[in-house]
Amino acid sequence: MSAAFAAVHREAFLTDTERRYAGKDRPLPIGHGQTNSQPTTVRNMLTLLDVQSGDRVLDVGSGSGWTTALLGHLTGSGGRVYGVELVPDLAEWGSRNLATQGMTWTSIQPADDGVLGLPEHAPFDRILVSAEARRLPEALVDQLGRGGRMVIPVFGRLSVVDRDVDGSVNVRRVGHYAFVPLR
Ligand SMILES: C[S@@+](CC[C@H](N)C(=O)[O-])C[C@H]1O[C@@H](n2cnc3c(N)ncnc32)[C@H](O)[C@@H]1O
Repeated sequence: MSAAFAAVHREAFLTDTERRYAGKDRPLPIGHGQTNSQPTTVRNMLTLLDVQSGDRVLDVGSGSGWTTALLGHLTGSGGRVYGVELVPDLAEWGSRNLATQGMTWTSIQPADDGVLGLPEHAPFDRILVSAEARRLPEALVDQLGRGGRMVIPVFGRLSVVDRDVDGSVNVRRVGHYAFVPLR
């Protein structure tokens, strides 16, 4: 995990005005009322997600592109990371930020109207959601492959959702976190 944070510099995913605060352990504004998440929170979420080399990963709420790049480092070039972002301007900016990292196995696309996640690319081994849902979204659980895991904030609690090899779904609630809403 530390290697991923050392390799993917947060500075590359911040606006000119916020770049000087890259070392601060707090969320930083990226425009449109959204944030580049707090580093400790991202680290905790990625630790829980337990990404394996070669995984297919969905990053919901890719924002600045930082988490997409961190995930790309964790999967390595044998994996595939799909970022999806609701705000079209952020999808474009995040995509440009991501391109600076030269990870050809990662990408960001704008969310389609009324579609949560990227069902056309499912199933995924791992799903990271960086915005808070009011209840566990079935649409995302459905995009999780067997043996897969999703980490998602649900109503103030971080939830770890595992789909077993037999298809059954198990949900654990861990810490308390504040996030921008999943819309
Ligand atoms: C905390 S912010 C960005 C975090 C991002 N991972 C980063 O490192 O910059 C969460 C993002 O989720 C996006 N979002 C909210 N609802 C969404 C949805 N249904 N689909 C895709 N993105 C969504 C917001 O627009 C926002 O950019």
